[in-house]
Amino acid sequence: MSMKKNKPKIEQVISREKRISMVTCYDYSFACALAQTNVDIILVGDSLANVSLGLSDTKEVTIEEMLNHTQAVSKGAPDKLVIADIPYLGCQKKSSKPLEVAKKFIQAGADGVKIEWFRGCKKIVKDLVKNNIWVMGHIGLTPQTVHLLGGYKVQGKDRESANNLIKQAEQLQDLGVFSIVLECIKKDIAKEITDSLDIPTIGIGAGKYCKGQVLVLYDLLGLYPNNMKFVRTFFDLSRQVKKAINSFDQAIKKGTFPSDQESF
Ligand code: KIV
Repeated sequence: MSMKKNKPKIEQVISREKRISMVTCYDYSFACALAQTNVDIILVGDSLANVSLGLSDTKEVTIEEMLNHTQAVSKGAPDKLVIADIPYLGCQKKSSKPLEVAKKFIQAGADGVKIEWFRGCKKIVKDLVKNNIWVMGHIGLTPQTVHLLGGYKVQGKDRESANNLIKQAEQLQDLGVFSIVLECIKKDIAKEITDSLDIPTIGIGAGKYCKGQVLVLYDLLGLYPNNMKFVRTFFDLSRQVKKAINSFDQAIKKGTFPSDQESF
């Protein structure tokens, strides 16, 4: 599928000189709205599992679900850079075929894929880059392997784990990723990582020294109840939705909707 008109090249958006904004998106209508904003990158994140599908674990979202949503988002925002998360089932399951999966995401309209750090990720990143697929890394709090990290906790708190994160970031850069998401990392460690790289870092809960920032769309719009310290809600969509739906309900009950003008 290709309806790409004025899509910028990844190299134009991803530069260490500019601050990068990235937001998640999961459906066509929101993508159409985001298409008319200045946001640099749209991420079809596997947080889809939590915020759209109501699942407690991102590991549960299927490749097909992610592909469907990637297709919808790419269709709604053809001129934006769209990156899709390779879900757990597409890369960490023993039988998974990450290169095949990544190619399907590109066919669905994504410009690149994001892959979370895990023990076997380097081989996959190498293979994807070799096959000319743009890859974004993701280190720190990686939800697909949260059970190995002792839960949803800030990462890089002691020197050893901080050094480990720096090493992961450098290895990913050497393998050819074009940027790295830093999730829930102490801001000074995120700065060390950022300073040690030539590629940009995009933070979520990783402080102000990252080159870019990402938030989950429904968190920043105040639709999904996320009380993590790093979330800023820029709008109270939940309140606005409730207000609108109650007005709709009241209009029906009062008999004022539909009016004659709204009827054939
Ligand atoms: O799935 C997602 O929303 C993400 C962001 C938190 C970066 O990976």
